[in-house]
Amino acid sequence: LSEPAYLYGDPPPRLVEVPAGARQVSPLQPGALALEDLEPGLASAVVVAAPPGTIERRCVLALALRALRPGGSLVALGPKEKGGTRVRRELEGFGCTVEEASRAHQRICRTIAPDAPVGLEEAIAAGAPRRLESLAAWTWPGVFSWDRLDAGTALLLEALPPLAGRGADLGCGLGLLARRVLESPAVEHLDLVEIDRRALAMARRNVEDRRADFHWADVRQGPPLTGLDFVVMNPPFHELGLEHKGLGLEFIRRAERMLRPGGTLWMVANRRLPYEAELAAQFAQAAQRADRGGYKVIEARA
Ligand SMILES: C[S@@+](CC[C@H](N)C(=O)[O-])C[C@H]1O[C@@H](n2cnc3c(N)ncnc32)[C@H](O)[C@@H]1O
Repeated sequence: LSEPAYLYGDPPPRLVEVPAGARQVSPLQPGALALEDLEPGLASAVVVAAPPGTIERRCVLALALRALRPGGSLVALGPKEKGGTRVRRELEGFGCTVEEASRAHQRICRTIAPDAPVGLEEAIAAGAPRRLESLAAWTWPGVFSWDRLDAGTALLLEALPPLAGRGADLGCGLGLLARRVLESPAVEHLDLVEIDRRALAMARRNVEDRRADFHWADVRQGPPLTGLDFVVMNPPFHELGLEHKGLGLEFIRRAERMLRPGGTLWMVANRRLPYEAELAAQFAQAAQRADRGGYKVIEARA
């Protein structure tokens, strides 16, 4: 049986060779295996598209080294301005000898897993889930706004009236909006949809409520929710670290399709994001309900 190989994330095409049959272990790809669950010391090769956050990246690199057998190959790469320049030193800190190349704005580091790497457990522990009293919630380094309440989320939490019936929270993150929604006894059911497995795992801990269902899914591809009374969302406008306005527009279209006629969407967005035309095209009515600190809250009726 050939030794397993793994891929974490989506490296830019043609920069690195991904072993044939490598299995995906990114938390951002619904259905993928979990890097932290791989049995230590078995993998022959791991390719890592290194994430931008320092704590998260060191943890991912350490988990990749832990998964590898001694002598297995690790290739880790990242955009120069998004932590890529730090990968080499981080790997050296784990006892690796690193060969570094620079291509297409990426730093590409190649190394062989040492017999006795150092500091892996410390980096893995630093990147693990924890409860933060400042959020009164469970959180995980690397997920959206993991160590502070996002200003947009805060504004929507303030503006949101008690809701009723069946609804969804699209891109639920740690579940802070969902927790608020479920404070209303008139809410019968809430579907939480999130692409980041880690965030969804934390939402499960933060929202312990029999009315809640959790979906590890890309909002653009399902789940097939329909006939809802309400949708709440703080839609993403970044994908893989790059601004992507189309993502928010797609969330708006998906929300409209999920709602029953007359159902309401409550959303928050960065003020400068031009969502109004899409809201006017998709919804019967839309109105701004709050505007503060660079964010706007919009209520739209399907
Ligand atoms: C701006 S954050 C909001 C998180 C949370 N609702 C809050 O207000 O704190 C957007 C969330 O959408 C998730 N996300 C991004 N793209 C997604 C997609 N295509 N499908 C589902 N969730 C997605 C992100 O992982 C992130 O947790």
